[in-house]
Amino acid sequence: MSSDDFRTIWLKPGDAGTVQIIDQRQLPHDFVIHDLAHWSDGVEAIRDMYVRGAPLIGATAAWSLYLAALHGQFPTEEVRKAAAALLESRPTAVNLRWAIDRVMRQAQDTPADDLAGVIRRDAEAICAEDVEICLGIGRAGLPLLEAIAERKDGGAVNVLTHCNAGALATINWGTATAPIYLAHQQGLDVHVWVDETRPRNQGTQLTAWELAQNGVPHTVIVDNAGGHLMQHGEVDIVITGTDRTTRSGDVANKIGTYLKALAANDNGIPFYVALPSTTIDWTTRDGIAEIPIEERNADEVTMSYGRVGDDRCAVRTVAEGTRVGNPAFDVTPARLVTGLITERGVCAASEEGLAGLFPEEAAG
Ligand code: MRU
Repeated sequence: MSSDDFRTIWLKPGDAGTVQIIDQRQLPHDFVIHDLAHWSDGVEAIRDMYVRGAPLIGATAAWSLYLAALHGQFPTEEVRKAAAALLESRPTAVNLRWAIDRVMRQAQDTPADDLAGVIRRDAEAICAEDVEICLGIGRAGLPLLEAIAERKDGGAVNVLTHCNAGALATINWGTATAPIYLAHQQGLDVHVWVDETRPRNQGTQLTAWELAQNGVPHTVIVDNAGGHLMQHGEVDIVITGTDRTTRSGDVANKIGTYLKALAANDNGIPFYVALPSTTIDWTTRDGIAEIPIEERNADEVTMSYGRVGDDRCAVRTVAEGTRVGNPAFDVTPARLVTGLITERGVCAASEEGLAGLFPEEAAG
C-alpha cells in the first residue's frame, strides 16, 4: 500500500487476457488473488464486493470493459453489453458511471480490432491517475495533521475514520488514509480509531489490516464508540471517504458516517472528507434527495462471518423470520463537513469551494 508498488488490480503477468484482483472478502485472514477472465467476473466482483471502494469499483469496471473487447466475438457489441451490466452492479459510487462513460467515450468510433488496445490503455491510465490523485490528497491533507501535532506539542494525533477509504478502496494509498500514511512516514505520531463499520466490517477487516501492514498505530472500536471518545477529547479529527459528492458538497459514504459527523459537530471536532475529483457528481446538488442509496442483502445483517481455527464460518445472529433493513450508505449534508480534501487542495464543502478548485468541471 504506501509502498509504491502496491496495487489492488493489475493484468496477470504473462497473460494479458486475465485481470487480477485481491479478493477482499477473505481479508484479514487470507490474502487471496482472484482472476477475472471474463467481463461478467468483473460484474460479480463489484456486486459481491470482492472489490469495493469507489475508485476501485471504477477501475474494475474499466478493466472489465477491456476483457469484453478482448474476448468478445463482436467486440463493440460486447463492450456495450458489458457497460450496461456493470452500470447496474452497484448504485451509489459515482466512479462506476464516471469510469464507464470515460472508457465508452474513448472507445467511440474505434474500429473493433483496435478496441481492446484502446480500452486497455485507458484502464491503465485510470489506475495510474488514481495513484497520483491519492498522493495529491495525501499532500493536501498532511498539513491538517501537522497543525494538530504542533498544537499538541508532539502529542499523538488521533484520527477517527469510518469504513475503508484506504489503499484497498483505491489503487494505492487510499483517500482518507493518504494523509495518515504520509504523516506516519514523516515521523508524526499518528493514531487511528478504526470504526468497525457494520455490517460488512470494512474497518475491522480492511482498514485495520492495511494500517497494520504499514505499521500505523490504530485501535478498532465498535461503531457506537466514536461519540463517547469525542466527548472525552480522544479524537482530534475525523477523516472519511465518500462514494459520491454533490456539487454543493453533500457526501454519501458508508452507513453511519452521518452519525459521526453529527457527533463531531456537537463536540467541535473537525470533520473532513477526502475525495478524488472522480467522486464528484456535478449533476447533483441535494445529496439526500438525489443520491441513490444501495439496499443490500439481509444476510449481511443476520449473519456474522469469521473464522474458527483454520475454517471460515458463518453464524446466524438474528432470529429466522425477523425483518431486516440494510441501507449501505448515508448522506452527510455539507453543513456538517468542515472541509473537503481533494487532489487540488482543501476547500469548503460548498458549491463555491468545489468550483474554486475545479472550475472547468463546475462550468461544464
Ligand atoms: O461498500 P463499500 O465498502 O464499497 O463502501 C466504501 C466506502 O464507503 C468508502 O468510504 C468510499 O468508497 C470511499 S473509498 C476511497
